[in-house]
This record gives sequence, structure tokens and C-alpha cells, in this order.
Amino acid sequence: MTVKPATILIFDSGVGGLTVFREAVRARPDARYIYVADDAGFPYGNQQEAALIARIVAVVGQAIDRYKPSLVVIACNTASTLALAQLRAAYDVPFVGTVPAIKPACAQSKSKRIAVLGTQATVSREYTRALIREFAGDCNVVLVGSPKLAGYAELELAGTPVPDADIKAEIAPCFGEGPPEHYTDTIVLACTHYPLLVDRFRALAAWPVDWLDPAPAIARRVADLMRDRPPGVIAERPSIFFTSGKAPAPALATALASYGF
Ligand code: DGL
Repeated sequence: MTVKPATILIFDSGVGGLTVFREAVRARPDARYIYVADDAGFPYGNQQEAALIARIVAVVGQAIDRYKPSLVVIACNTASTLALAQLRAAYDVPFVGTVPAIKPACAQSKSKRIAVLGTQATVSREYTRALIREFAGDCNVVLVGSPKLAGYAELELAGTPVPDADIKAEIAPCFGEGPPEHYTDTIVLACTHYPLLVDRFRALAAWPVDWLDPAPAIARRVADLMRDRPPGVIAERPSIFFTSGKAPAPALATALASYGF
């Protein structure tokens, strides 16, 4: 008997969730993946909170109605730190969120100085502050909110190169001054768009650091929640939908094809 594949819905404000999607596919290649990008609402990082919560709950709700997923991955720190609780209260489906990886970063830091690089919204949220209070211990945490990097990642994936100097200016505040033992040695990628730029970050870093991408941990959580589900037989490629209704431009379509869409 063939087992129907489980449907996993991946949600982000744009293409950043692809960095989580690719790890989820590695962990559960047998699922049917639906990716919803709320590009009509992008960027989430500079929006008024109440309106953004209402928007996220509505857009995710429509996708749940349409695709009946077994699991929803909110592959966006800005959305998760703001609206995970409301989503869980509104819909009876398991959610996996993406929140800043402060606990593992502090645990692995030898210099006991880390930076959290996210959208301005994510780094200013109470959710993020609470993670620091709970898990930072003796680690010094520098919060760096970037108004521009998510947009730069969108541009790069769509084939428009962003100059080195522009990217460098956004990551520079993560690197502190001081004697070597107080140097930042770990930077949390607290926006799912940023792993798309991590090779540029490495090349432009003031010194080598560990750039922590939470996607593998999120994929492990997905696999864990799906552990009782027998392997399905996938009959279709993943699908991606943009809330703007616009078809991706050719360069973006080529990039999406490399992810299997
Ligand atoms: N990908 C989103 C995140 O993880 C943010 C991008 C945006 O500002 O919309 O935070």
C-alpha cells in the first residue's frame, strides 16, 4: 500500500524560509512541501506589531485552509517572535517556529561574547530579550538589528548583486572592540534570509567567527514531530506561492528551480 505523503507548509515573508526549507527536505524528503512567501507584506522587519500579527494569522490561516498541512513551519524569526502564540491559539495544527539561537550560541562561545544579527523588529522583541535572560548566563550578547540585510538577500537571490561595502556596513556592528578574549566569536543568524548571504558575511567579517544558522535544528524538530508518520511516497515537486500573485522574474525562477521548485 502506498502511503500518502504528509504536507508540510513553510511560511516566510519572502525567500528567507528557503534556508529552512532545504534543511527540512533533507530531514524529511518524503513530505509534500508547500512554501508560502508573503512577498506582498515584505519586509516584516519594520512593521507595526498589531497589524502584522493580524496579517500573519490571516495569511497562514488561508494557507492552512487551502493545503491542509500536517505541520506548519514559520520559517521567519520576525513572524515567530511576534505571532507564534497567536497562531497556536488560532489553528489546531502543530507549529514549528524559528527563533534566535541564543542558547546554543552562548553555550559554544569561548570568548563569552556573541552577537545576534536579525531584523530590527526581532532584536527589539521581548521574546528575544527573554531568551537572553533565560539562556545567556555569563555570556555578553550584542543585539544588532539590520534594516537592510533581508532586502539584500532578496536582491541577491533575484540576480541583483549587492556591493560588498553595503553588506559590510550591516554586519560591522556585530564585531566588538577589545582584547582578543572579548572578541565576538559567534554570530547568530536571527533572520532566515541571512544564511543566503553567509558566504559574503564570511568574506567581509572583521575576523573569523562561527555564523550560527538555526535551520538544521529546526529540521530536527520537524523530523521529531513527524517521527510516527511512516515514509510517504512523493508524487509531486514542492510548490511555492507568492501572496503578491506575481510570477518570479527569470533569475529568481532559476534560483527557485535549484531548490526543486
Ligand atoms: N525572514 C525574516 C526573518 O527570519 C525577515 C525578513 C523581513 O523583514 O520580512 O526574520
